[in-house]
Amino acid sequence: QIYETADEAVKAVAREIVDLVQTKAASSEKCVLGLATGVSPIKLYQELVRMHREEGVSFRNVVTFNLDEYLPMPKESEQSYHYFMHHHLFDHIDIDPKNIHIPDGTLEGDEIDKFCRDYEKAIEAAGGIDLQILGIGRTGHIGFNEPGSFITSQTRKVFLNDLTIKDAIKDFGSRNLVPTKAITMGVGTIMQARRVILMAWGEKKAPIIKATVEGRVSDSVPATFLQMHSNVQFVIDESAASEL
Ligand code: GLP
Repeated sequence: QIYETADEAVKAVAREIVDLVQTKAASSEKCVLGLATGVSPIKLYQELVRMHREEGVSFRNVVTFNLDEYLPMPKESEQSYHYFMHHHLFDHIDIDPKNIHIPDGTLEGDEIDKFCRDYEKAIEAAGGIDLQILGIGRTGHIGFNEPGSFITSQTRKVFLNDLTIKDAIKDFGSRNLVPTKAITMGVGTIMQARRVILMAWGEKKAPIIKATVEGRVSDSVPATFLQMHSNVQFVIDESAASEL
């Protein structure tokens, strides 16, 4: 779905999320959302906050699982995805804090593997992800599943690609301050979501959107695995679509 502007696009995505949340609420069910960070979803979160404030939309029945977190990363750091999610969304809506799940960047050694296994179990116990929101990195990563990630990969510790580290310098100030590792949901975790919406804005994303939508399915561009998902939508603006 190509929109003229990102503003228009996020309105449609926010509407779909809220419809799903309210349909589930009407039958006293929880709505399980997979959430993303980065610049791309910021406007979406602003629209959800607006709908909560101005239209009284409630998120009490929502359970969230975030895709990823840098490693090492203290929760209170302004660069953490933990801070990002609270700052842009969770602090401004009525979600129950115990329904929020974000990978923990403070763990070390064997604790990490255990955490990752438990994260998968928690997603399963919640009934699986109803709707997964994604951005895309210029390496073709979804979450932090860099080139070489398998289609069956699960939540795990990963090493960041050079281009990803370069793109993160804007948030950290200098290259040596960017963490080189992360915890991310796997491609397999994402593929199990019942619906996936990937959002991308701007010309910088045009080459990777073309490779992802029109290219051969391969682990050298992990986002191409989404071509094999039965219920996926790319919601992009005209500039991100300019090479299609
Ligand atoms: C980070 C995140 C990804 C995100 C990507 C793109 O690497 N881990 O989940 O999709 O950035 O970010 P942006 O939306 O800022 O371009």
